[in-house]
Amino acid sequence: MNPILGWKRACRTAPLAALTVGVASCQPKPPPAPPDPISRGRDLFFNETFDGNGRTCGSCHRAEENFTLSAEFIARLPPDDPLFVAETNPDLAANFENPTLMRAFGLILENQDGFGDLASNFNMRGIPHTLGLRTSIASAAGPRTGWSGDGAPGDGSLRSFATGAVIQHFTKTTNRIAGVDFRLPTDQELDDLEAFQLSLGRQEDLDLPLPLTGLVAARGQELFMDRAAGKCNACHFNAGANGDPTIFGPTAGNLNFNTGVENLPDQPADLTDELVPPDDGFGNPGAGEFNTPSLVEAADTGPFFHNNSVETIEGAVAFYNGDSFNNSPAGQLIAGATGGGINLDATQVVAVAAFLRVINALDNIDQSIALLRNSNEGRFGSTSRDLLLASEEAMDARNGLRAGGLHPAAVIHLENAIHLIQELDGQYNAGRIDQAIAALEQARDAMVGSQ
Ligand code: HEC
Ligand code: HEC
Repeated sequence: MNPILGWKRACRTAPLAALTVGVASCQPKPPPAPPDPISRGRDLFFNETFDGNGRTCGSCHRAEENFTLSAEFIARLPPDDPLFVAETNPDLAANFENPTLMRAFGLILENQDGFGDLASNFNMRGIPHTLGLRTSIASAAGPRTGWSGDGAPGDGSLRSFATGAVIQHFTKTTNRIAGVDFRLPTDQELDDLEAFQLSLGRQEDLDLPLPLTGLVAARGQELFMDRAAGKCNACHFNAGANGDPTIFGPTAGNLNFNTGVENLPDQPADLTDELVPPDDGFGNPGAGEFNTPSLVEAADTGPFFHNNSVETIEGAVAFYNGDSFNNSPAGQLIAGATGGGINLDATQVVAVAAFLRVINALDNIDQSIALLRNSNEGRFGSTSRDLLLASEEAMDARNGLRAGGLHPAAVIHLENAIHLIQELDGQYNAGRIDQAIAALEQARDAMVGSQ
């Protein structure tokens, strides 16, 4: 669609009420500017196959799925989607993916310890979102990417991770010969992919505590931060991915821990007859450690943990009460430092989860507002895409609050915003967009007071 024509149509057909918002809503838009690194990176991320099996980065990190994939979304894809190359390309039928585990639990096969023994040396891991990366990678020991912080082969940076992803996921055969099975990204492409990924999601950490209006979520925040109760803030400082600087040092950043997730009994994938080798985490051979993920983005990007072993955010919080965590090296470390393990009762588990749902909804609202503002620019035909994602973010906020029985007034404001955005039908209309932003701001104000 030509964004300028689309815009004009919106102006012509807009109801009278919207037109009275101001002449500004019908000003001609500036012509498209030449692509910048972020736009080039976006184009590569969603469209470039690197001469491989047809997959793109967006095959697994989908924009409309918060840059990850759920089993339900996978179930809706057509059988010829490149995600399913192991089912459609005979050269990739063995030792490339496990279609049963992919379809049931959204698990992806990864050869973190190299391609030497494809039949038995692999890990089954969930797809992490690629949001908020600007705040969640840096550590005193270097960049930490991937669930175990190993990065892909290379220095652990986002640039080398993209190269590793092409070799792991884009190959036409399991020989993985560059120039034959795929082509490697160029330096320019790596720069552009990095610029795009760093632009996704929030750009800075929260500053807790927030003045939350909901009693349960506010209590959850207290428990989260309390060094004698939840103890979460020690590792997930400000609900992000970094260690508390007052405990681990000012430059510690994004740390690895062995929290015992691998020891959980009855993990969904283990209930099948499929081969799921133990995942030894960081290093080769691994030390059993995994990298701390950010929690602001957690509530709408389950299932949780590196192996998608827990489906709900309440379950992920409850993990910290169990033996798997409390007997783990990290659990013992916490017990030694604080005089005991983590032991939250059911009301407290739900309160911490309510806090995580609310900060996720607030982040969704911020993202939705940013996308609505961006749709105004309409560069490179982005308007309808921005509006679609803005409504996805608002729906995530609504769904997350509703599933937790939280903030009914905010849910209604979000419903209103979703309705306004969807009525735009991908067309830019400043008046309507201002109304949608106002509804989103009302939802936010219902959850958080002024500081
Ligand atoms: C077949 C699915 C699939 C494809 C295609 C894919 N990824 Fe991933 N991505 C994953 C999985 C699974 C992980 C977790 C890997 C790990 O733990 O080391 C991951 C992890 C990541 C991470 C780490 C995020 C973090 O928080 O540390 C980044 C960054 C990333 N991918 C970028 C890319 C890029 C760039 C491409 C395209 C060149 C790509 N991915 C293609 C499945 C995929
Ligand atoms: C000792 C450090 C540490 C403490 C304390 C800690 N976490 Fe974690 N957290 C981690 C690590 C490491 C992971 C990744 C584990 C894995 O995937 O194997 C994680 C993962 C998570 C996840 C999954 C996120 C996702 O995207 O899959 C949630 C949710 C979570 N933690 C919540 C909490 C809560 C709530 C508390 C307090 C009750 C807490 N954490 C305490 C280190 C910690």
